[in-house]
Amino acid sequence: HIMKEFSGISSLEIELAQYLGIQNCIIVPGNADESEWVKSELGKMCAEKLTEVVKPKQTISVTGGTTIASVVDALPEKLKDMELTFVPARGGIGTDLKYQANSLCEMMAKKTAGDYMVLYVPDQVTQELYYSFINDTSIREVLMKIKSADIVIHGIGDAMVMAKRRKTSESEMEILKQEQVVAEAFGYYFDENGNEVNKVSTIGLQLEDLKHIPHILAVAGGASKAKAIKAYMKIAPKNTILVTDESAAKLILKG
Ligand code: BG6
Repeated sequence: HIMKEFSGISSLEIELAQYLGIQNCIIVPGNADESEWVKSELGKMCAEKLTEVVKPKQTISVTGGTTIASVVDALPEKLKDMELTFVPARGGIGTDLKYQANSLCEMMAKKTAGDYMVLYVPDQVTQELYYSFINDTSIREVLMKIKSADIVIHGIGDAMVMAKRRKTSESEMEILKQEQVVAEAFGYYFDENGNEVNKVSTIGLQLEDLKHIPHILAVAGGASKAKAIKAYMKIAPKNTILVTDESAAKLILKG
């Protein structure tokens, strides 16, 4: 932490948290777009913060994504014997299994000798399917656990990157473009003012559930995500702790 003060990162962290109106920011040096090493640092800082706030027997809800994947490797030995339960905040999206919330939950549970639950449903569903899914007893049980989590760890994505990953149809892509979306989080898309655009039915944690969750760790870095982070933070709960990198932080502050 002496290095942080020396490099001016500590004051950047305070400035960014004030600017975004959230509880706390943790900034790692560099640009995650350019080096995998920076992404690992994001994971490390998130794991550190988690270790600081978590209590035995708590439930942690996690989203998918490559950034959250970097948290897995960084989870310390100390978390073993804490009897933690990991639950996926999202259903399945795209085809890359190793970055799905379900897979990351399982990996986190294994790393910490804890428990996990799975949500075997697609992330985005039609209205009809949505109701039949959420009325299924076993899915309901997982959803209840997700909504009552003590801690949430989530990623934030560039809207268009995420829309492509979700294999969004051409017509929906057109709507997103027209609405000038810049950010995606928890399956929601936002324009630069933080307005929710094109709400689709997704299964998993809903934005309103965040209100009841004591600790929220948002992890996202890289210059390419600056706009997305800034937009999402307009509606993020105030108790959000953002773990990001220097290049995103500086771009956000530039306005
Ligand atoms: C996922 C979240 O965890 O990560 C998305 O559900 C987010 O909301 C995405 O946009 C970001 O992914 P990545 O790979 O850029 O970390």
